[in-house]
Amino acid sequence: MRKKIVAGNWKMNKDFQDAEDLMFEIVDELTENGSGDTEVIVCPPAVYLEMSSDIAAENGFMVGAQNLSQWESGAYTGEISASMLHSMGISHCILGHSERRTYFGETDKVIATKVDLTLKYGMTPIYCCGEVLAERQSEKHFDVVRTQVSEALFHLGKEAVSQVIIAYEPVWAIGTGVTASSAQAQEMHAFIRSLLTEKYGEEVSAEISILYGGSCNAKNAAELFANPDVDGGLIGGAALKAADFVAIVNSFS
Ligand code: 13P
Repeated sequence: MRKKIVAGNWKMNKDFQDAEDLMFEIVDELTENGSGDTEVIVCPPAVYLEMSSDIAAENGFMVGAQNLSQWESGAYTGEISASMLHSMGISHCILGHSERRTYFGETDKVIATKVDLTLKYGMTPIYCCGEVLAERQSEKHFDVVRTQVSEALFHLGKEAVSQVIIAYEPVWAIGTGVTASSAQAQEMHAFIRSLLTEKYGEEVSAEISILYGGSCNAKNAAELFANPDVDGGLIGGAALKAADFVAIVNSFS
């Protein structure tokens, strides 16, 4: 059975004290409301990973990074390696987010290298894919996502790909308040799963969690998560408020 997962991507937000307060508020909300059988992952900025992973470890949820280096170690000033994250107890890493593709020029080739390093160090990649508005309007969205998924993941064998979480994040829905409709999300998630079935067979594709991201919030999460191929969410803005985030965690029917 694939897992239900809700992950919070804090992006580049919060100073230290606010970040620590938010972590403890999430603990309080989870203690009060529970999380059912949903796996909860919080992805704060890198400088708060140590503080966050200590708190998470004591409270039954996990912490992920938002990025890691494409190089394994050495003279790469400012970079953070997969090995460093793993040694800090970090279990997940978001890769291929549209903001990294857009502002940092990350290509599927570079992201594929990061996927390999994440897996090599025993962590779980949360691989993001999704089209921009013009691509959807010109009906290229399936082709775009097919290319992103195949170029960054399809060099993996069955066992390795089974470790990956995929997040479909239509770029036009990220931070805009415009959510993909429930039908649009289900359609693309089913398409991604069909690509996985074609390449790896049904047994493997049925095990892979596919999350939705893009203006997902406490109001619309339940409708999105009710779809058979939507296994949870990768949450941006709404993950910065503990009550909203934990309400989303508990939005599965
Ligand atoms: P928002 O939920 O703020 O739209 O962000 C989604 C996202 O990019 C998560 O990675």
